[in-house]
Amino acid sequence: KAAAGDKKASFSFDELTRGVDRTHHVAEGYKADILIRWGDPVIPGAPAFDPMKQTAAAQKMQFGYNNDYVGYIGLPYGSNNPERGLLCVNHEYTDEEVMFPGVGVDQQDKTVNFSAMTKDLVDIEMAAHGGTVIEVVKTGGKWSVVADSKYNRRITTSDTAMELTGPAAGDDRLKTKADPSGRRVIGMVNNCAGGITPWGTYLSAEENINGNFWGKVPEGHPETENHKRMGVPGNWYNWGAYHDRFDVSKEPNEANRFGWIVEIDPLDPTSTPKKRTALGRFKHEGAESIVNKDGRVVLYVGDDERFEYVYKFVTAGKFNPSDRAANMNLLDEGTLYVARYDESGKGEWLPLVHGQGKLTAENGFKSQADVVIQARKAGDLVGATKMDRPEDVEPNPKTNKVYVMLTNNTNRKAEDVSAANPRAKNAFGHIVEMTPPDGDHAATAFTWDILVKCGDPSVAEVGASFNPATSPNGWFGMPDNCSVDNQGRLWVTTDGNSFKATKTTDGVWAMETDGDLRGTSKLFFRVPVGAEMCGPRFTPDDKTLFVAVQHPATDNVKDWPEFGKSSSFEDPATRWPDFKDDMPPRPSIVVITKDDGGVIGV
Ligand code: FEO
Ligand code: CA
Ligand code: CA
Ligand code: CA
Repeated sequence: KAAAGDKKASFSFDELTRGVDRTHHVAEGYKADILIRWGDPVIPGAPAFDPMKQTAAAQKMQFGYNNDYVGYIGLPYGSNNPERGLLCVNHEYTDEEVMFPGVGVDQQDKTVNFSAMTKDLVDIEMAAHGGTVIEVVKTGGKWSVVADSKYNRRITTSDTAMELTGPAAGDDRLKTKADPSGRRVIGMVNNCAGGITPWGTYLSAEENINGNFWGKVPEGHPETENHKRMGVPGNWYNWGAYHDRFDVSKEPNEANRFGWIVEIDPLDPTSTPKKRTALGRFKHEGAESIVNKDGRVVLYVGDDERFEYVYKFVTAGKFNPSDRAANMNLLDEGTLYVARYDESGKGEWLPLVHGQGKLTAENGFKSQADVVIQARKAGDLVGATKMDRPEDVEPNPKTNKVYVMLTNNTNRKAEDVSAANPRAKNAFGHIVEMTPPDGDHAATAFTWDILVKCGDPSVAEVGASFNPATSPNGWFGMPDNCSVDNQGRLWVTTDGNSFKATKTTDGVWAMETDGDLRGTSKLFFRVPVGAEMCGPRFTPDDKTLFVAVQHPATDNVKDWPEFGKSSSFEDPATRWPDFKDDMPPRPSIVVITKDDGGVIGV
């Protein structure tokens, strides 16, 4: 058996068999329990979920749809308590076809019938997007939600007022009819991954914000080029039919108020979330941070689209561990950098600062506001490296290595291959490992290497590079989210594995990063058919792993021979996790613990 018994192995669980079926699976010796599902109560007094009687008012008090990022903060704050804490969860998007009766079959195939999407249903969707903060507690070895916690909060697209802060706040390009100040926006959309800051705030990353807008940008409008680069309007939803701000023909600037990193204080449920414009506007995957050795905070942020960039933000001020309040606006001042990966295994962080190099008025950048609003264009001008869809970028505090998940890029042509993106038609993605010099995350130089090129190692044309110790169950494709646990071990979750592509659903893989076993992975958990694996988050004792099962029954369903059809509310590929005839599939948070209560993975 691969790697078992090797003294250098970081993981000693018996791995799962790859496969696809209607439910989730975890390695033997572990429990995987449902913690909270779409529609479950969050705010005290929330009604029980009734799929046939959904209302926006109920959804605003209930757990939202498509849980993605999961953060954990031990309570009381500062205690690092592994058995009581706040879970901070993103609700990235909605799948109408399995949420509501009678609307169509498959959003991916664009066959949702928008005329069935009434204002009432749209308003439920807007309430189902956003985030949730809930208190959770472990008693007698079992986790549950604290139903009456004062911290429990829903953040929605429809209702939660947010402040725009930093260099773009108040800029003309952020002003709308509803907000002539350019500083106040209602809601966040398409929040993918995120981060917890060293001062215990929850960062939520707005990603594919283009999909929420429809309409046509007015002819000759100054935002035409900007909106085109972000794919605005994406026309995935018909919200613009009922809410003018999501129709770019009526409110062309509204899209500039989305695509940011949002900072939320989960310890104060009345606090106003802040969109931190200093961190740039693009399709943010996440925002994981580390306190640098000089006390400044460095955040790593990926832009998840083919041929887009890897960024980092270095705060101007230093983290103050003894005064939480002193850190609350650290993210408004600092330097945004974009990465250039050179052929030599070296690289450079290029500053995106107005007035420097080509970032001047003659190239369309009148101010730092323009630089952050069009960070992608600024990245082009400074010569950043176009990557194969940068998803999570996460530093390992034990080693100071930084892991970059690159999901895939089947559009990369042979002539565009580079050392850091070495495969044309990259269907399975890869993981890049970056090393800052002397552990200095604020430095502008770095070195880098490829940890693994993903895909089936037994198919030579794929060009995968998993360690030969990896078993036939252990390889994967499409790395997306990741988590470094408290011992510095890397865990990778995936988006896009399927019967056709990889003969398995998405899941959690444990990944060796050092020694002879570097590049060996093992399958620990897998999701039900059509779902994606998001959010892996360990408690501070590594005895609990929270994972987010996103969009069960929806993606790649037709690739599984027994499910040769699309899913709908009436006939979904799975009714996970309830398996009741009158209950649709429900995105849910799953909590994994070891049967003996010990540390996960050993
Ligand atoms: Fe929402 Fe980049 O995945
Ligand atoms: Ca993601
Ligand atoms: Ca994803
Ligand atoms: Ca997805």
